[in-house]
Amino acid sequence: MKKISFYLILLVIAACTNNQPKSGDARMDRFVGELMGKMTIQEKIGQLNLVTPGGGILTGSVVSTDVEAKIKAGNVGGIFGIYGPEKLRQAQKLAVEGSRLGIPMIFGSDVIHGYKTTFPIPLGLSFSWDLKLIEKTAQIAAKEATADGIFWNFSPMVDVSRDPRWGRISEGSGEDPFLGSQIARAMVKGYQQNDLKAPHTMMATVKHFALYGAPEAGRDYNSVDMSRMKMYNEYLPPYKAAIDAGAGCVMSSFNDVDGVPATGNHWLLTELLREQWGFDGFVVSDYTSVNEMIDHGMGDLQAVSALALNAGLDMDMVGEGFLTTLEKSLNEGNVTKAAIDNACRRVLEAKYKLGLFDDPYRYFDDARPAKDILSDENRAVAREAAAHSMVLLKNEAGVLPLKKSGTVALIGPLADSRNNMLGTWAPTGNPQLAVTVLEGIKIVAGENAKIVFAKGANISDDPEFAVKINVFGPRIEIDERPAETLLKEAVAAAQSADIVVAVIGEATEMSGESSSRSDITIPESQKKLVRALAATGKPLTVVVISGRPLDIPEETELADAILFTGHPGVEAGNAIADVVFGDTNPSGKLTASFPRNVGQIPVYYSRRNTGRPQAGEVFAKFRSNYLDVENSPLFAFGYGLSYTNFEYKNLKLSKESIAGNEEIEISVDVKNTGNYDGEEVVQLYVRDVVASVTRPLKELKGFKKIFIKKGTTETVTFKLSANDLAFYHQDLQLFAEPGEFHVFVGGNSDASLSEEFTLE
Ligand code: NOJ
Repeated sequence: MKKISFYLILLVIAACTNNQPKSGDARMDRFVGELMGKMTIQEKIGQLNLVTPGGGILTGSVVSTDVEAKIKAGNVGGIFGIYGPEKLRQAQKLAVEGSRLGIPMIFGSDVIHGYKTTFPIPLGLSFSWDLKLIEKTAQIAAKEATADGIFWNFSPMVDVSRDPRWGRISEGSGEDPFLGSQIARAMVKGYQQNDLKAPHTMMATVKHFALYGAPEAGRDYNSVDMSRMKMYNEYLPPYKAAIDAGAGCVMSSFNDVDGVPATGNHWLLTELLREQWGFDGFVVSDYTSVNEMIDHGMGDLQAVSALALNAGLDMDMVGEGFLTTLEKSLNEGNVTKAAIDNACRRVLEAKYKLGLFDDPYRYFDDARPAKDILSDENRAVAREAAAHSMVLLKNEAGVLPLKKSGTVALIGPLADSRNNMLGTWAPTGNPQLAVTVLEGIKIVAGENAKIVFAKGANISDDPEFAVKINVFGPRIEIDERPAETLLKEAVAAAQSADIVVAVIGEATEMSGESSSRSDITIPESQKKLVRALAATGKPLTVVVISGRPLDIPEETELADAILFTGHPGVEAGNAIADVVFGDTNPSGKLTASFPRNVGQIPVYYSRRNTGRPQAGEVFAKFRSNYLDVENSPLFAFGYGLSYTNFEYKNLKLSKESIAGNEEIEISVDVKNTGNYDGEEVVQLYVRDVVASVTRPLKELKGFKKIFIKKGTTETVTFKLSANDLAFYHQDLQLFAEPGEFHVFVGGNSDASLSEEFTLE
């Protein structure tokens, strides 16, 4: 018996621990040490150079030149932006057979929400609150990308963001550090699967380190300024979680942190990341972010390159500041040989962990793309992920789900748009493979329903705006017909139908990198369309496709039902139809609050109290409020409806107080009181009532997504201990303060079912 449990423990340890050699692994040390013993300084610097040769996929504004010659000269450590086993094999051959020491290169890419099978944008995926599903999407992304020769991923992007003006809110998991940490972990697990050498896994890069999601005024690349306490408690946890999960690489961000650009920030890249958190992988810059420190005012190219290396940056993406200046800086005494050695060692260790020294061609199998990419199973997961990511924001009088009969008027500029389904940062996806809403609705509705379609409006009528959005291809296509004609046609279609489904929102490139908006309303052309459709008096469902939370009080008022879908990916139309017709009961919950207007930003659930809080929403003089809008968001974090209803009762705590390492158990009964089976995300929030510093009114501390059959009740339990109640103090020490705590359980962050306990 004893023996069995001993082996069981070993098995569990083996399953839970990261399989990768760590720094200090004797064989890896010996191998890398011997190799470095043969390298010249310039060859070592060459390993720190990451290039993108163009001709593949472009994700920045400059490309590298003379790449072939540089590879042969040992001046390239890695490449990104090119794809396919044949092409990558040829490139690898140049390094392995053409350079003096034959050191293989590492091949990277941005595989953000799927490789060719495009899943919903990451913000959308986070709405699913389904960690297993998210991990599965990452696993599939890794399988497809490695089939195409890519084994180093510039994902997950784990930047917490509370500013929907910022276009890249689409690429993260929203506003909450607890949920963000769980998702970060799931994605790293999905990509790496604890075995970097396996042919179907890829090395994850946690980005953008750090705080990139909090630019002033929501403008991309802008300055970031926040207190250390806020950083530690609210913005850093997801990066830490991804690193603890074993992510092999970290990408430094474009912004400054405490006055020093992240790429040259010694406190960030060395003291925090390596010394406090024990990260032992390598750090890559963002696209030319070393060079960009010149514009930050940190000196010339030689100075900023030395600054970055001395800060702890290991690899320079595209800018070649390292390649062209580090040797000079070494000779002039501005960097040390040890600093260059450290960076080189970390890059070589990554290659060792990936198995490239065993077989530099291990990821280039010509048979794999046809087998592993865009398989039916992968597309089925994309459909499931999309349907489970959609959030039902309003459903008056049970307008949804629709019946698969009668006449449905499907209207709107996104209703028959293929180009806008994948969403931002899908450079490896192919928009032409996406299922449009019109196609999906026709397939899922079947023979008994008649579908009439009208475009109704342009995404935007502004040609200058369209030019900015169409940089990667036609996204906003302004119709040759006058706007009035489109509108009339739509109204006629609506009048001829039993029900109306309008599909509106943002084009793909209206969110993402360099796509910040100061006004996050639906463009006026589409607003007019919704007004006209509402005026017909037909039951109106509005499907909102968008890369960010939007300012939609007017549409919410006018529509009978609102379904927010994010950009749903390659199976968009099918998944939207699955939800609209009730084949899938929506279970998504928002992970970023929807403001009532842009002036409320940042509006997020885990705010702290003021000394003059306002009770409720009625304006009171000399309380913290606005003259022209309520304090609360339009839709709160955690919010999302289902076709059924859930009732929460019997909230019970196992104890009145806990001390030391004790745990308290929190249980609640959740009853499905409606007419459909459904899934619910049961959420647990905590308030630390009295502390030495101001604390959030509520913080998410647990959640469970469960399936409940109609008419039945499930009991959901959570556990909390002092560790879960700990927070960083002014001196950055992490501990919980004794005293009173309130717990809240419910289906969103407004949860009011509450109990109390004490931490001794
Ligand atoms: C810039 C983006 O900020 C980053 O997320 C991306 O990985 C790189 N470009 C490479 O494409």
